[in-house]
Amino acid sequence: MNVAVRYYSRSGNTKLLAEAIAKGLNVQAISVDEEKSKITEETDILFVGGALYAYGLDKNLKRYLEEIEGSKIKRAVVFSTSWLSKHSVDLIKKALSQKGIEVEKEYCYYKNTPTEEQLKEAESFSKKFLGE
Ligand SMILES: Cc1cc2nc3c(=O)[nH]c(=O)nc-3n(C[C@H](O)[C@H](O)[C@H](O)COP(=O)(O)O)c2cc1C
Repeated sequence: MNVAVRYYSRSGNTKLLAEAIAKGLNVQAISVDEEKSKITEETDILFVGGALYAYGLDKNLKRYLEEIEGSKIKRAVVFSTSWLSKHSVDLIKKALSQKGIEVEKEYCYYKNTPTEEQLKEAESFSKKFLGE
């Protein structure tokens, strides 16, 4: 199964989550502002994460989602962090759906900086998709 993890994080919270998710999948978490973040191969599951800033997504993540090649991605799973609101989850899901990508209902979300225990949980969360 070909899986990938992409994220955008300003202050590191979502990055921690992305790395835990990637660890569970045995792949590397890549920030969307890196050149190599572009999905060029057929991907079975793309894990996409970002946080909420002033009730919206960061422009780097927005642009990445607008430019993503939907036909290359079979399915996507969303993860996010924020102070309180899960609106970021909905915004990412919506952007992916608009690209014709099937989005998993289940998502991974934590408030602020995930704890060690939550990072372990996130690792198990992603791992279970490999078994499906
Ligand atoms: C400028 C700014 C605006 C934010 N706006 C919101 C918001 O509207 N709602 C919310 O729940 N959290 C908000 N947050 C909190 C962030 O989503 C939260 O700290 C998140 O974990 C940051 O992720 P990052 O470390 O990956 O950048 C905001 C944070 C910043 C810095």
